[in-house]
Amino acid sequence: MKKAVYPGTFDPVTFGHIDVIKRSSKMFDELVVGILTNVNKEPLFTVEERVDMITNLTKDIPNVSVATFDGLQIDFARCQKADFIVRGLRAVTDFEYELLMSQTNRILAPELDTIFLTTSLEYSYLSSSTVREVASFGGDISHFVPEEIEKLVKAKYSEFYGDQAE
Ligand code: COA
Repeated sequence: MKKAVYPGTFDPVTFGHIDVIKRSSKMFDELVVGILTNVNKEPLFTVEERVDMITNLTKDIPNVSVATFDGLQIDFARCQKADFIVRGLRAVTDFEYELLMSQTNRILAPELDTIFLTTSLEYSYLSSSTVREVASFGGDISHFVPEEIEKLVKAKYSEFYGDQAE
C-alpha cells in the first residue's frame, strides 16, 4: 500500500493546496494531510480550525485524512507509516528551499522519498499569507479560497477589526 503525507501550515488552506491534495490523492492509496502545530508563524486559525477546514473540504475523497504534528515532517511520516512526503512546487523560488529540505530529509530518513507536484499554473502565485493580507484589507479572496473558507477568513478579520473587514 502506498501512503503519503502532505505537510504544511495551511493557514488557511487555499485552492493551490486543494489542487495538490486532489492530484496526490490519486497517486497514493492513502494521503494524510499533516498540519504543523509548532510553527514560528503566528497563525490566524487555530490548529483545530485548520483541521476542520481541510476535513470538510476533503470529506468526499475517501483516501484523504487530516492529522496534526509538531517536530520534524520525517517523524510525522514515520509515525503515519508513510513512505512518501508530498510537496507542491509553485515557482523556481520554491525549488532551492524544497531541494534543501528533501535532501536533508533523505539523510535523516533514507527510507522516505519526497514527491514534488508542480502547482497548477493558475495557483502558482498563491500563498496563505497573500490570502490573509488581501482579506485583512477587505479585498476579494474568492479567487484564492473556496467559499466556505472565504467566510471563515472574513469572520476572523471581523473579530479583529469589526465590520470594516467585511
Ligand atoms: N498552493 C498555494 N500555496 C502554497 C502551495 C500551494 N500548492 N504550496 C505552498 N504554498 C504556500 C503556503 O501556504 C505557505 O504560505 P505562507 O508562507 O504564506 O503561509 C508558503 O507557500 C510556504 O509553503 P510551505 O513551504 O509549504 O510552508 P508551510 O508553512 O505551509 O509548511 C512545513 C512548511 C510545515 C512543511 C515545514 O516547515 C515542516 O515540515 N516543518 C517541520 C520541521 C521540518 O521537518 N523541517 C524540515 C527539516 S529539513
